[in-house]
Amino acid sequence: MSLPFKTRLGVNIDHVATLRRLRDTPYPNLLEAANLCIQGGADQITIHLREDRRHIVDADVKVIRENITVDLNLEMAATPEMLEIALQTLPHSICIVPEKREEKTTEGGLDLSNETRNLFLKEICKKAGEAGILVSFFIEATKKEVQKSFELGAKCVELHTGSLCLAHQQKNAGLFTKLSLEFEEAIAVGNALNMLVHAGHGIDYDLAKTYFSKISGVREYNIGHAIVCESVFCGITAATRKMAHALEAPVNFHPVYYQ
Ligand code: PXP
Repeated sequence: MSLPFKTRLGVNIDHVATLRRLRDTPYPNLLEAANLCIQGGADQITIHLREDRRHIVDADVKVIRENITVDLNLEMAATPEMLEIALQTLPHSICIVPEKREEKTTEGGLDLSNETRNLFLKEICKKAGEAGILVSFFIEATKKEVQKSFELGAKCVELHTGSLCLAHQQKNAGLFTKLSLEFEEAIAVGNALNMLVHAGHGIDYDLAKTYFSKISGVREYNIGHAIVCESVFCGITAATRKMAHALEAPVNFHPVYYQ
């Protein structure tokens, strides 16, 4: 059965921690930033604890987990160390992402083709699932990757919208049409499998309003860069509110609805 629901907005605040790291100052305060996003309508706060701790550090995970009033989504690489941290801190959800040391941001979705590595992804789904954590895989937005995530035990997928958004920003209409069709097919497969479908990466205000707000079947969008950039001009609460409004749709549908 399809139930109407409000699309959730997750705000990624890694960039706030990057500012702090630029000078190794105690400010800006990450928890304050998270709370200001929540005031602006964030339904969830995302932080990515990278293996090299380049922005978010272990203490942030604890402070944010213990003090925010909305769900915490912890992005992490598929490593035993990160699984242990997740099991200790018990965020609402974890999003498993590929991680390369030199990348500016997460490039591409998880590689699900290595069956030996996949055994560990299955173990994460099992152990984190038993601990009550929602496990999401950050994947390329294709039917095949959604199906594979389901087979490995993920209850949720986050579809990578980076190339789709870039095609739009570069005014490549042909590529945008191709990628948006793949994105919409991937959503449909996830919905048919009763998975929670999330999406994120590269989403700006224009695309949120003109494209993503019109798409059904996505439970949550995770957005960081555009919101933190906008906050330079109007503050992070107003920037979050503006994104929440841009994503607003009269009705959205999803076969399952967990709050
Ligand atoms: N989702 C994932 C898995 C990410 O790694 C990121 C970037 O940190 C985002 C969403 C947000 O992307 P952006 O900062 O481009 O909005």
